[in-house]
Amino acid sequence: MSTKLWAGRFNKGINDEVLKYTATTETDQRLIKYDILGSLAHIKMLEKCKILSTHTAGKISNALIALYRENENNNLTLNVEDEDVHLNIEKMVINLIGEDIGGRIHTARSRNDQVVTDTRLYLRQAILDIKELLESFSSSLLELASRNTESLAIGYTHVQPAQPITVAYWYTAYASIFTRDCKRLENTFNSVNQSVLGACALAGTSFNIDRLYSKSLLAFDGLIENALDATSSRDFVIETISSLATIMSNLSKLSEEIVTWNSFEYGLLDIDDSFSTGSSIMPQKKNPVVAELAKGKVGRVYGALIQILTTIKGVSLGYNCDLQEDKPMLWDAIDTVRSTINILHQHVLTSKYNSKRASEMSWKNFTTITELANWLTKEKDIPFRRSHRITGELTNYLMKHGLDLRSHSEVNQFLSKFDIFISKEKLSNLTDPLEVVKKQISVGSTSPKSVLAMIDNLSRQLADTKSFTVSKLENIKICEAKLLQKNL
Ligand code: ARG
Repeated sequence: MSTKLWAGRFNKGINDEVLKYTATTETDQRLIKYDILGSLAHIKMLEKCKILSTHTAGKISNALIALYRENENNNLTLNVEDEDVHLNIEKMVINLIGEDIGGRIHTARSRNDQVVTDTRLYLRQAILDIKELLESFSSSLLELASRNTESLAIGYTHVQPAQPITVAYWYTAYASIFTRDCKRLENTFNSVNQSVLGACALAGTSFNIDRLYSKSLLAFDGLIENALDATSSRDFVIETISSLATIMSNLSKLSEEIVTWNSFEYGLLDIDDSFSTGSSIMPQKKNPVVAELAKGKVGRVYGALIQILTTIKGVSLGYNCDLQEDKPMLWDAIDTVRSTINILHQHVLTSKYNSKRASEMSWKNFTTITELANWLTKEKDIPFRRSHRITGELTNYLMKHGLDLRSHSEVNQFLSKFDIFISKEKLSNLTDPLEVVKKQISVGSTSPKSVLAMIDNLSRQLADTKSFTVSKLENIKICEAKLLQKNL
């Protein structure tokens, strides 16, 4: 007869190919810790509800704690014969303390509520870890910003030089993006951190269990009440991967800027030698491979999103084996996001923006001409549309003659056709890129004053999201420590 824990109903063992095809022991490796913690909470609940005696619960808990410690020392291997982490751990407990006692661990539960419990426990930790990485990245960006409020950069639209900005403004934009990603992760955490334990197979149980108790033992914030929903739904996985995909999309924006700005043609960003590789044939090459790869890896996470959406589609209520395909790409997405945030954080810290080059490009590309048009409207009461046309024609004229806005006499001569006179000082004040940056006074603009205000606001938002992370991590730590206390 088969040695499976569910063997009773079968006349022969499982086909090897079928076992390989259906087992999840490899994927489940990272769920071991959480499977044990979930089991510990379940046992404590069964004891509280007097479904298990204190003696039995104590014995099972101690066996689980011993396995937990073994796993910490990497001495626990899941046996593919036992299909998944749940059956493996149950079998290990039975092997340690015998079936009379160990065989009671699976009272009033099912693998169907176990697997969702494990995944949620694993995910909430992963979400907080990723959130912490993003928070630290955002803090570094704000720190860099505060030191660069007067360092000139060039802002693009349509990948064409548009208006002058500061390096600080650019850093602050990413700090703003990543802080929003952190808030999104907070919402994702709240969806994930819900208890399904005690839902059992699909219909609940006739044992008089206390689901709210096991929920609080595991520091879940709420309960997915309907047992059929609790065991069947994977929308929390979709939500998680969707948040991860959004983070990757934002990281890819940054990576694209690193790659292009680092090129000779732009010459705006110097990247550290330790973040680039050379060519096997072209000795002169220094390639921005980290940022290139970060963009490439976005495909994995978007792929995971499409995969989970497709896998979940049309799966009826009640556990279906389709659902076990929710994890492999989820794990990969988590690992990818984690390593990408980490490496891009270091990448940005070790790269240097070239403000001199930005200044030269600003002049050559007339990035401050909008301010001249603004001046015509503000000071000469010319309708903006006409100011736009005059300064557009001026641009055309100067470009044709290979000049730029530093050529005062030509500018003045051109404007005199419209009865406009501009002094040398005024012209330079209106067209010098850094001066123009300083003139931007609207909320959220690029001037040092606005940027400093944004740094302040973002620092406050970041402090809020950090305190969320810290308090949730602390709750998790306390809950785990309590579950691991021996009670015999
Ligand atoms: N290995 C399964 C998964 O990852 C969990 C157990 C499913 N339950 C079952 N009755 N086969 O989704």
